[in-house]
Amino acid sequence: MAKLIGLNKIKTAVFISGTGSNLKNLINFSKTKKSPISIDLIISNTIKAKGLRYSNQYKIKKKILNFKNNKIAEKRLLNLLKQNKIQFICLAGFMKILSSKFIKQFNGKIINIHPSLLPRYKGLNTHSRAIQNKDKFTGCSVHYVTEKLDSGKIIIQKKIKILKKDTPRSLAKKVLKQEHKLYPKAILKIFN
Ligand code: GAR
Repeated sequence: MAKLIGLNKIKTAVFISGTGSNLKNLINFSKTKKSPISIDLIISNTIKAKGLRYSNQYKIKKKILNFKNNKIAEKRLLNLLKQNKIQFICLAGFMKILSSKFIKQFNGKIINIHPSLLPRYKGLNTHSRAIQNKDKFTGCSVHYVTEKLDSGKIIIQKKIKILKKDTPRSLAKKVLKQEHKLYPKAILKIFN
C-alpha cells in the first residue's frame, strides 16, 4: 500500500448511508498534516443520508446513487471513481453490499468500520446481540473489504467494556466515540 503515497495525498472516496459522523471525522483527519489521504468524493445510496450535508460544508463533491439496480449503480460508481482518480475507499456506515466484481476492481483498497469486535457479530444489530448474549466486552473494528461480508483482514480493533446498565443505544454512542479515534488510526497504520 505504501506505493500509493506520492507527493500528494491519496485520493479517497467515503461511502455513507446515514448520519456521517465517521465521514465528518475522516474529513477533519484528512486536513491534518499527518493524514496520508484527502477526501475527494462522498458517495451515498440515499438522498436521506444526513452526512451529505458535509459535502456543502467542506466543499467536497458528492454523488447519490440509486442501488435498486446494483449493476447499473456500480457501473456508474466505477466511472465516477475513475473520473475523480479515486485510489482508496472508506466505507463509513454504508449499508449496501458491494458486488465481488466491484470489490475486485479495488482489491485491497476498500476498508470498512464495523461496530463490533469482529469476527463476532457480522451484519446488523451488533449492540443488541452483544447485550442479549451477556457479553462483557464489545468494540469496533476496521477491516479490509472482501467478497464475504465483514470478513476481510482486520486492521485494528478497540475493545470496550459493556456495563450492566448499558442499552443498545448507550452502547452505540460509546462505540461510535471510539470509532472516531480508531478509523484515522487504521489509516495511519495502513500507509505508514
Ligand atoms: C457506525 O457505527 C458504523 O460502525 C456502522 O454504522 C454507523 C455509522 O455511523 N456501520 C455498520 O454497521 C456497517 N455494517 P455514522 O453514519 O455516524 O458514521
